[in-house]
Amino acid sequence: MNFRIAPSILSADFARLGEEVKSVIAAGADWIHFDVMDNHYVPNLTFGPMICQALKPHAHTAAGTPVPIDVHLMISPVDALAAAFADAGADLVSFHPDASTHVHRSIQALKAKGVKAGLVFNPAEPLDVLDWVIEDIDLILIMSVNPGFGGQGFIDSALRKIEAVRKRIDACGKDIRLEVDGGIKAANIRRVADAGADTFVAGSAIFSKPDYKSVIDQMRSALAA
Ligand code: DX5
Ligand code: ZN
Repeated sequence: MNFRIAPSILSADFARLGEEVKSVIAAGADWIHFDVMDNHYVPNLTFGPMICQALKPHAHTAAGTPVPIDVHLMISPVDALAAAFADAGADLVSFHPDASTHVHRSIQALKAKGVKAGLVFNPAEPLDVLDWVIEDIDLILIMSVNPGFGGQGFIDSALRKIEAVRKRIDACGKDIRLEVDGGIKAANIRRVADAGADTFVAGSAIFSKPDYKSVIDQMRSALAA
C-alpha cells in the first residue's frame, strides 16, 4: 500500500506558516492538508484562498518536487470558494456533501477546473451519496472527529465506516484515495490503515512536537510494521 501522510497546518504556527510548510515537508510530509473553516458550516474560522496562494510557492521538496495541497473545505455554500481554491493552486479540493445543494454539480465544477475532487463524511453522515458519484471523485475523506477543531479524540465508529468505504472503492475499481482526518497519531495509525485507509491527516500529533520528522517517522514505522 502506498501510504500518504498529510500534516494539517491547522495546528501549525500561523505567524510562520510558510516556514512551517517548508519544515513539515523537509520532515517527510507527502501532502499539505489545508483546513478551511467558515464560522457557519463549522464553529471556527481559519484561512482562505489568498493564504493558499501565498503558501503554494513553498509547497515543494528541497529537490523541487511539488507537494500537493489538499484543501478540506468546511464551508457552505461550496462552489464559489472551491473554484477560488482551484485558482489559488490547490491540487485536491474536498467538500462535505451536506454543505452543497447540488453535489454532482459541485464535483463537476471542480473537475472542470482541473483539480482532483473529494467528498468528506462527518462521523454521523451516511455514505449513500457515493452510490451516485463514486466514479466521479478522486478522494473520500472520512472524519474521525467532528470538524472544526484540532486536537480532538479519534471516534472509533470511523473504523467501521472506513471498512465500508474500502469495500465500495474496491468494488468500483477506480483509483480513489481513502483519507482519514481527526485524532490520528503514531499509536493508532496502524489500526486505521488496517481498516483500509491509505492517507492520514495529522495536525496536533505533528505540530505539537518540536521534531516533526521524528513523529512522521514513527507513523511510517507503525504503517510498515
Ligand atoms: C478538523 C480538521 C482536521 C484537524 C485534525 O476539522 O479537519 O484536519 O486539523 O487535527 P488533529 O490531527 O489534531 O485531530
Ligand atoms: Zn481536515
